[in-house]
Amino acid sequence: MIDVSRQDHWEKVYTTKGESQVSWFQETPALSLELIALTGAVRSSAIIDIGGGASRLVDSLVSQGCEDVTVLDLSVAALASARSRIGDKASQVTWIAADVTTWEPSRPYDIWHDRAAFHFLTDQKDQTAYVDRLRRALRVGGHAIIGTFAPDGPERCSGLMVSRYDANSLAATLGCGFELIDTRRHEHTTPWGVMQKFQFSAFRRERDG
Ligand SMILES: C[S@@+](CC[C@H](N)C(=O)[O-])C[C@H]1O[C@@H](n2cnc3c(N)ncnc32)[C@H](O)[C@@H]1O
Repeated sequence: MIDVSRQDHWEKVYTTKGESQVSWFQETPALSLELIALTGAVRSSAIIDIGGGASRLVDSLVSQGCEDVTVLDLSVAALASARSRIGDKASQVTWIAADVTTWEPSRPYDIWHDRAAFHFLTDQKDQTAYVDRLRRALRVGGHAIIGTFAPDGPERCSGLMVSRYDANSLAATLGCGFELIDTRRHEHTTPWGVMQKFQFSAFRRERDG
């Protein structure tokens, strides 16, 4: 089931603002690509971008020859924007319009990437549902790369409250079965020149227990 007010919010954002008019716009997702490479990703790796929105990460992955890329987002308009931007190559990508907290993963992935989606889940119930999907979708030995606002980052984004994390609090939220393999502080500059502090952490999925 989709949370209608949450979906309405994001549809409104993506239907009223251009790709580069949102605070999270990035010309090149350099840190995400660096961390994906660090996991040992190969062309056949199954990569899912959670809350990928209209991000250009998919463009970079497809142009690097990645053969198994999925983008999941609550907003149909965001996915449509990314699809039309990458043109013919859109058919090589799997596009899923869903709320990650209620999505039922139907196959395993090697890499779970999330830049600035998880931090919008401020209710414990939603965070638990997200981690449940992560556990179900990410194969043992696979990697999760999660970027959120850092503890000294903004309290809100897109008019919504966020939960802020460092590597330790994120690891605690994910619970057992995830080994932290790298963490970075990252300063994102919005299109209008405001600096936002992020953390990006990469975890290896271990067997539970
Ligand atoms: C700040 S934007 C980041 C978009 C993209 N990851 C990027 O780096 O450009 C947050 C994205 O998360 C999506 N989102 C928010 N809550 C979600 C949820 N519960 N399930 C799936 N997507 C969600 C929004 O639609 C939006 O595209």
